[in-house]
Amino acid sequence: MTHISKQDIINLPSLERMHLINSCGGIKSGNLIGTLSKSGVSNLAVFNSVIHLGSNPPMLSFMLRPTTVERHTYSNFLENNQFTVNHIHESFVDKAHQTSAKYDADVSEFKEVGLTEEYIEGFNAPFVKESKIKMGCTFVNEYFIKEHACRLIIGEIQHILVEDGLQQEDGFLDLAKANSAGIIGLDGYVKTNLLERYAYARPNQELKPLKS
Ligand SMILES: Cc1cc2nc3c(=O)[nH]c(=O)nc-3n(C[C@H](O)[C@H](O)[C@H](O)COP(=O)(O)O)c2cc1C
Repeated sequence: MTHISKQDIINLPSLERMHLINSCGGIKSGNLIGTLSKSGVSNLAVFNSVIHLGSNPPMLSFMLRPTTVERHTYSNFLENNQFTVNHIHESFVDKAHQTSAKYDADVSEFKEVGLTEEYIEGFNAPFVKESKIKMGCTFVNEYFIKEHACRLIIGEIQHILVEDGLQQEDGFLDLAKANSAGIIGLDGYVKTNLLERYAYARPNQELKPLKS
């Protein structure tokens, strides 16, 4: 086994260090965040840091990089308080990745990469039509993380849209069946495969696989 010390990490060329540190934490979620600007331009960007925060009230969070450059997702949801979180499906990982390019504020990534905007009544942010699982969220709060000048963004889930056949009876969403992609580091997209589900684990009790 290779042992990489903190000093080794510091000594690495910056790109290599970035790839190593971005991938060592494990496989991450793959989402496209959709927003709408005040002037009506839709925006879409890939994020690998979305995690749920709690279910009552239903909330999620994601990490926003330092605002030393324009961050259209951020400026848009600060203006209108709403954003969507759309699972990246295996069939459009290339389009999803292309949304990370630095397009001008008056350019819609939807049109540039070839994904379709979709709106639901009373909600002012675009969903990705091609996504099989998607959420509409309102911006709740942000926490500045001084160690890396990032912001932890908190959103409250107002809507969940799920294609038929992907939700099990107990509420569980089968992301493998949905063919939702995961992300390794900053440029690796993976297919998901459900190995097993288990019943609630208790000490001194045999672990029971759940039937699905
Ligand atoms: C795989 C991948 C994951 C990314 N995850 C994040 C993330 O979690 N947070 C973030 O601020 N930027 C992330 N980015 C960068 C944004 O996608 C990129 O800065 C994009 O241009 C932002 O667009 P916007 O200015 O329209 O918001 C990621 C990029 C890639 C390629």
